[in-house]
Amino acid sequence: MNFKKHVLSDPAAVGRAAAEHIVSLAQERTGEVGRFNIALSGGSTPQVTYGQLACEPLVRKMPWQQTKIYFGDERHVKPDSPDSNYRMAYEALLKHVSIPTENVYPILTDNDDIAACAEWYEDLLRVQFQRRTDAVPGFDLILLGIGPDGHTASLFPGTPAASELNHWVTWSDPVSVNPNVKPAVKRITITKPLIWNSARIFVLATGKEKAPVLANIFSEAEPANPPVSRLLRQCKGEVTFFLDRAAAG
Ligand code: 6PG
Repeated sequence: MNFKKHVLSDPAAVGRAAAEHIVSLAQERTGEVGRFNIALSGGSTPQVTYGQLACEPLVRKMPWQQTKIYFGDERHVKPDSPDSNYRMAYEALLKHVSIPTENVYPILTDNDDIAACAEWYEDLLRVQFQRRTDAVPGFDLILLGIGPDGHTASLFPGTPAASELNHWVTWSDPVSVNPNVKPAVKRITITKPLIWNSARIFVLATGKEKAPVLANIFSEAEPANPPVSRLLRQCKGEVTFFLDRAAAG
């Protein structure tokens, strides 16, 4: 698998580089087809990237009116919870830019039944991608992070979500497998088929705790206990890693 890699000096440089590549991809796609759809990642790493997109010079170059923002996963918490990926994206990016509200599609978590939340988001994607059949859709770009346990999005090791191949959106209960997962909540997440079928994937990872998983992903030899994020080797689209030196090992 020929991944693209950008190894930068530090997390700030990773955030800048990823933001610049997002803008150029967005300009390219809106120039080609008049729209750009991106699924955001949660966690802490992408916050620098979102901040770069929200300020000069990039904020003025991004085609916000033609951009549609989705989420790769969401914690099963209220949208104003400090653990909400939507809240993080809103505070770091969405509230600072002129993207039409109707262009932003949070994963709603207002139903106590998390399976219903996942089903609702999958139905939303079916409408947005105009899929009446089960032909798997794909985003123009998905941003993903990597956990030290090898997860990506909220496809956590040992959970059924990590091997879900029929649904495009499902849910996971990582705490049932690993009590140390933080935050200790259930999640709604896109699944492998949607990641595999998307045109581009940007993986943002910094810090030395990510180095072992990344080495496992990059290894040509199949490791004995492959991390879930080794799924990235089966992507149809182009996978680009934005790493700092610590994560790149
Ligand atoms: C989430 C993310 C998750 C994240 C990784 C890395 O909801 O937390 O989807 O997959 O990207 O856990 O998180 P950090 O960027 O905080 O290291």
